Amino acid sequence: MTEELAIKLNKPVPRYTSYPTAPHFHAGVDQAQYETWLGELPGDARISLYLHLPFCDRLCWFCGCHTKQVNRYSPITAYLEALAAEIGRIGALVGTRPVTAVHWGGGSPSLLDAGDIARTGQMLRDAFSFAPEVEFSVELDPNDMSDDKYAAWAAAGLTRASIGVQDFDPKVQAAINRIQTYEQTRHVVESVRAVGVRSLNIDMLYGLPHQTVAGATETARQVASLRPERVALFGYAHVPWMKKHQSMIDEKALPDALERYRQSHAAAAELLAQGYERIGFDHFALPHDSLAVACRSGRLHRNFQGYTADEHDALIGLGASAIGRLPQGYVQNTVATHEYQRLALEGRGVVARGVALTRDDCVRSYAIERLLCDFRLDFAELRARFGADAEPVVEDAVAVALNDEHGIARLLPGQLEITDRGRPFARTVAAGLDAYLQVGTARYSQAV
Ligand SMILES: C[S@@+](CC[C@H](N)C(=O)[O-])C[C@H]1O[C@@H](n2cnc3c(N)ncnc32)[C@H](O)[C@@H]1O
Ligand code: SF4
Repeated sequence: MTEELAIKLNKPVPRYTSYPTAPHFHAGVDQAQYETWLGELPGDARISLYLHLPFCDRLCWFCGCHTKQVNRYSPITAYLEALAAEIGRIGALVGTRPVTAVHWGGGSPSLLDAGDIARTGQMLRDAFSFAPEVEFSVELDPNDMSDDKYAAWAAAGLTRASIGVQDFDPKVQAAINRIQTYEQTRHVVESVRAVGVRSLNIDMLYGLPHQTVAGATETARQVASLRPERVALFGYAHVPWMKKHQSMIDEKALPDALERYRQSHAAAAELLAQGYERIGFDHFALPHDSLAVACRSGRLHRNFQGYTADEHDALIGLGASAIGRLPQGYVQNTVATHEYQRLALEGRGVVARGVALTRDDCVRSYAIERLLCDFRLDFAELRARFGADAEPVVEDAVAVALNDEHGIARLLPGQLEITDRGRPFARTVAAGLDAYLQVGTARYSQAV
């Protein structure tokens, strides 16, 4: 029974938004290395930009993002000045390579005032070469939104808004310090649509303090009633050893592994009943949405924002803690906001760490991405892409299926498949291809 598996397989595993995962990044990769890699990109490489705004006007106690609370606007003004320096420097190196997608995340980019939305948007367009059909998405906290901001986002070219909901139950909201009504959320959805934004995403969480199966189902029903094109249903990652403010959460009120599984299952069933299609292990989309189309055609991808339909050759991270991925490796900027600002304004490098990809990393990264996106790994395709270097990974994939005692993975002719009952545990199957997992000491959050 799948519920028993939720208890048996309740071991920490990475989310595999990158491979190798972030704990394996090291200081040996620096700004000079990054800039060499940028220079080596082909002239027609498609570029995706990620811009990080590490500020919020209050801290939600569940939050695992890199952000800090600000009570005044001046720290944001100072940060944008440093960001401008980094944008100018990196834009000059990227040159005319086409930017096909831009995502502003955080923190809460929704804190920016209308003038800064326009200035920062223009700064990016001046520094980089935007493709005509560029996708522009932003993360919005409904509590920050005021009527003047919608027009500013639209004028900057916004095409998709991602709105945080988490859970609508007032008891859960009080326990996570995030009060946000359904009506308030609906107003934001309608306002964003009114300025012409065609695609919306809503984030939900399960596994929160005091959350129940009935409450998660009701939140899923309310979210679906707003008809966002996409819904992300994440499991709350409780990592107080990394995020001190999570210790404000009463651990006695947290659901156990079985209850978490039941909540995720019930919320997912509600979304499916409301016409959404399942995308990977934690996303949902309406059938016409580009994520659903990409999923059906085997063109789904995974990056630091989770599942995406965005097909780029290089992801460039801008801002404190931002992570980039180039064909040659990953880079991460300095995490501490003040230090980032100082380095950027002094014209020094802001890259703090990263990892150069070995050939084996590239094969495993590709294999893990296909497993988590398609729930299968085709050995012939892996061999066609990577030649003899695919063999150790194919051997590991075969071993994963042969050693599986739980019925979560099986071998079909020429491929490893994650079974239907194994889908909630897809990351556990993928971990079987992770060459670093046995040697590291990194701590991760729960599998489900
Ligand atoms: C940067 S935040 C959201 C943007 C915006 N600040 C907001 O809160 O609406 C992106 C999403 O990450 C998810 N998230 C944050 N902390 C998390 C955690 N500890 N575990 C799982 N998901 C988390 C939430 O669903 C959140 O909406
Ligand atoms: S969830 Fe969003 S609003 Fe809340 S602290 Fe995190 S980034 Fe800020």
